[in-house]
Amino acid sequence: MNKILVTRQIPEKFKARLEQYAEVEIWDHHLTPMPREQFLEAAKDKTALLVTLSEQIDETLFHAAPHLKIVANMAVGYDNIDLAAAERHEVAISNTPHVLTETTAELGFALMLATSRRIVEAEKYVQEGKWESWGPYLLAGKDIYRSKVGIFGMGEIGRAFARRLRGFNADILYHNRSRNAKAESELGAFYTSFETLIQESDFIISTAPSTPETQNVFNHEAFKKMRKDAIFINIRRGDLVVEEDLVDAIENGEIAGAGLDVVRDEPIRMDHPLLKFPNVIVTPHIGSASVLTRDQMIQTCVLNIEDVFNDRTARNQVMHKA
Ligand code: GLV
Repeated sequence: MNKILVTRQIPEKFKARLEQYAEVEIWDHHLTPMPREQFLEAAKDKTALLVTLSEQIDETLFHAAPHLKIVANMAVGYDNIDLAAAERHEVAISNTPHVLTETTAELGFALMLATSRRIVEAEKYVQEGKWESWGPYLLAGKDIYRSKVGIFGMGEIGRAFARRLRGFNADILYHNRSRNAKAESELGAFYTSFETLIQESDFIISTAPSTPETQNVFNHEAFKKMRKDAIFINIRRGDLVVEEDLVDAIENGEIAGAGLDVVRDEPIRMDHPLLKFPNVIVTPHIGSASVLTRDQMIQTCVLNIEDVFNDRTARNQVMHKA
């Protein structure tokens, strides 16, 4: 009998579907991750795991769970998973691409609008009873219309973001591992070096995954090269940014603001210096958080598990690249 561990609460309809062909154990919490020891213990006799980015899937886990056939990760990213170890243990790994692309791009856009037009500051201003009269430059921000926007990482999410920019008549620059013909021909995006991207853009949006090449690219040197009125947005992974350098850049006015849906250590500590700036907005990694998209992400995990239980290759199998 197949046995599945699901590490967060999921809607009843998905649980019922899994129960048609497996014994299902659910860590019935919405926000609290399973303690590591409990997770290792619960995984012991399981043939499939449906997990989130909070779970570390590594050699220790594979060792503890010798019956595992698949780990379905409820995310497009899989930097919580040791793919080499998965391959050694012959465990399939799947992710949830495509279904979250548009939703994540929308959150990026929300952060861009919120930072450029100082929405969070403005709302606090009202809440704190400071609104006494209209002023010519009261909470004046920066236009996206006709601005230059630099997208770092032109994958699906980068392209979805670029599509939204067309309505704002923005010039789109991008930098990516390789050129993206579709983004150039369909969206009018211009390929540039990383250097040009950060030097020229009004807005710099990071949508790139975490890889050894991208980690720490937004560091002191990069922030120094940005325009003083530039706004930096990160919607993918926190470890692309050296946070102390971002703090310095904001403190010294080297850039005008930042909108971050991801940080290096999540959840962010309440005494993190990034939280003290009015021109920095931090959201709790909610890029893909629309109800429909979260449903589709869980459904994708379920379908991948079914694939493997039916002796097929998981439709969203992630391959280890040596
Ligand atoms: C979220 O960050 C994801 O990778 O899906």
